[in-house]
Amino acid sequence: MEKPAIAGGNPQRSTPIYYGKQYIDEDDIKAVCDVLRSDYITCGPLIGKLEEKICKVTGAKYAVCVSNGTAALHIAAMAAGFKPGDEVIVSCITFAASANCIRYCGATPVFADIDPLTLNIDADRIESLITPKTKGIVAVDFAGQPVDNDRIRDICKRHNLVFIEDAAHAMGSTYKGKGVGSLADMTCFSFHPVKTVTCGEGGCVTTNDEDTYKHLLRLRSHGITRDQSQMNNPSDDPWYNEMVELGFNYRLTDFQAAMLMSQLDKLPKFIQRRNEIASCYEEAFKDEEVVKTQKITDDVTLGRHLYTIEIDTDKLTVGRREFFDALNAENIHCQVHYLPVYMHSYYEKLGYKKGLCPNGEKYYERALSLPLFYTMTDSDVKDVISGVKKLTHWFKRDK
Ligand SMILES: Cc1ncc(COP(=O)(O)O)c(C=O)c1O
Repeated sequence: MEKPAIAGGNPQRSTPIYYGKQYIDEDDIKAVCDVLRSDYITCGPLIGKLEEKICKVTGAKYAVCVSNGTAALHIAAMAAGFKPGDEVIVSCITFAASANCIRYCGATPVFADIDPLTLNIDADRIESLITPKTKGIVAVDFAGQPVDNDRIRDICKRHNLVFIEDAAHAMGSTYKGKGVGSLADMTCFSFHPVKTVTCGEGGCVTTNDEDTYKHLLRLRSHGITRDQSQMNNPSDDPWYNEMVELGFNYRLTDFQAAMLMSQLDKLPKFIQRRNEIASCYEEAFKDEEVVKTQKITDDVTLGRHLYTIEIDTDKLTVGRREFFDALNAENIHCQVHYLPVYMHSYYEKLGYKKGLCPNGEKYYERALSLPLFYTMTDSDVKDVISGVKKLTHWFKRDK
């Protein structure tokens, strides 16, 4: 049996590999430079073009690009009308922003447990959390796997709730043949560098509803409108615009828009390579009793952001922390996505307690996100697989 680096053996690799990395080519750089040489570097013509492109990719009618995914969730929560006294159901295993957008509006997040196989919000549990105060659901497409849209839409319809899909991980994913972004009342995307496509920082909300679209546009830009039909004090003065509500400056710049358009041209090949890597992991771990992988349902395709595994620490002599450290010593740097949101001290101070979502907590205790990015070579993938297997064998109990 091969000795791991942490026990004095040779590391699996001589150079480190990390869980995520952007890919930027000369086309992206040229697209940005062309804008920098032009007249408009923000609020120019490219935002509309990018939004058209996102509509094409997702199948949504309307798209509103913003400065990051958190801003997208914030204006979506505002457009949903969440306010103090409201409750909004949200997946517990997600980045904090999925719940924070509810708090920004003064409403109360109600954390729902995950399905331990798909790692998405467990649609069976949603209805038991609904009260007369419930106004919406923020459901996260974990790792890029779309949530059960049909069931969640049906629940929202019957209880008159707004459905916000947090698709920060899921650009390019499909559900029953339809693009993520075209299904929920509003869908939010992130273009942070570890995501499938990036422009440094960026985000987007898609919707099929025209009024929601107009509202999102206004919220992105200070709550200001130039559309007389939206004004309380209409005027045809050519310079006149009116702030009709409290909004934000959440605009994306034109050079970011240019970069994202160029990245979106590469989305199919990004997705293809990410899925190839995921298939290699799937094949390698299918007979490893210590490694559990995320179940992917039949009716979806993934524009995959993460590849997570759970290690069965009951069958190992070490816990996840020691396993994580041992992988680092092999020069394989993973991450953990995510601490259940209500276990962050901010939420603990609001009164949320450990034990709320047992599946989410068990998942968190065992989770690791393996390296997954477009430029990983076959040899990188083999290193990750060999490194993980080396450790599961070395640390196996009763071997
Ligand atoms: C599930 C989820 N929602 C929202 C966000 C927020 O996106 P951003 O970092 O672009 O603000 C992220 C980003 O990591 C995320 O993973």
